[in-house]
Amino acid sequence: MIGSEPLVRLAHVEKRYGAGDVAVRALTDVTLEIPSGEFVVFVGPSGSGKTTLLNIIGGLDTPTTGMVRVAGKDLGSMGEAQLTRYRRDTVGFVFQFFNLVPTLTARENVELVAELTPDPMDAMELLRAVGLEEHADRFPSALSGGEQQRVALARALVKRPALVLADEPTGSLDYETGVRVLEVMQQAARTLGRSVFLVTHNGEITRMADRVVRLRSGQVAQIEANPSPVLAADLRW
Ligand SMILES: Nc1ncnc2c1ncn2[C@@H]1O[C@H](COP(=O)(O)OP(=O)(O)OP(=O)(O)O)[C@@H](O)[C@H]1O
Ligand SMILES: [Mg+2]
Repeated sequence: MIGSEPLVRLAHVEKRYGAGDVAVRALTDVTLEIPSGEFVVFVGPSGSGKTTLLNIIGGLDTPTTGMVRVAGKDLGSMGEAQLTRYRRDTVGFVFQFFNLVPTLTARENVELVAELTPDPMDAMELLRAVGLEEHADRFPSALSGGEQQRVALARALVKRPALVLADEPTGSLDYETGVRVLEVMQQAARTLGRSVFLVTHNGEITRMADRVVRLRSGQVAQIEANPSPVLAADLRW
């Protein structure tokens, strides 16, 4: 939409850890804009700043300097309470190791988040969408890694977040389960209109993206739209 604000806008973001001679610069002068509704893949070598960048966009971490705007809100001007609300209402997180509650079934894990949300999606409908309708009453320990990750994705989506952030969501999965999880993420962007940002060091996954952000040594080396994203099943791993 011409004239509308991008979903995410970063200007001159820098992140330093520590101080003085021992300071580590995790991000240097990161400036980027990302429109809403896209499946965006952030790729780069280990230590290039991917997790730091995702955590800053998700309000889990704050930049040392620079501006971060998401969904029209300036994260830098928010206090702790506002940031908590931002993380709860605007962002859905998916982590490498699923982080499901082990004493709750798949359905209960999703419902737990739905209960904290003013206008949630239906938990069972989402479990159906991620292909887990039959396993809804199983505990995480009785699900495969890929199945657990799909529950985690359903849990992230149930609150209708503007933005889903996933840090190496297939990092602990084998090829086939990884492909299934990626398919569901791409579908979430396409059919639910969600923005999905995925961090990986697997360059092949960039072929699925609507947009690719390449990081190197804490800087954006390249950002490009992909005119013809492929389906997860067509990746070559
Ligand atoms: N809490 C911290 N304290 C000090 N340095 C940190 C901290 N977190 C990250 N770093 C450093 O910042 C840089 C970027 O780290 P980051 O975790 O963002 O990289 P990454 O691209 O996600 O790497 P990986 O692919 O291995 O997960 C690295 O040099 C890292 O050592
Ligand atoms: Mg990382």
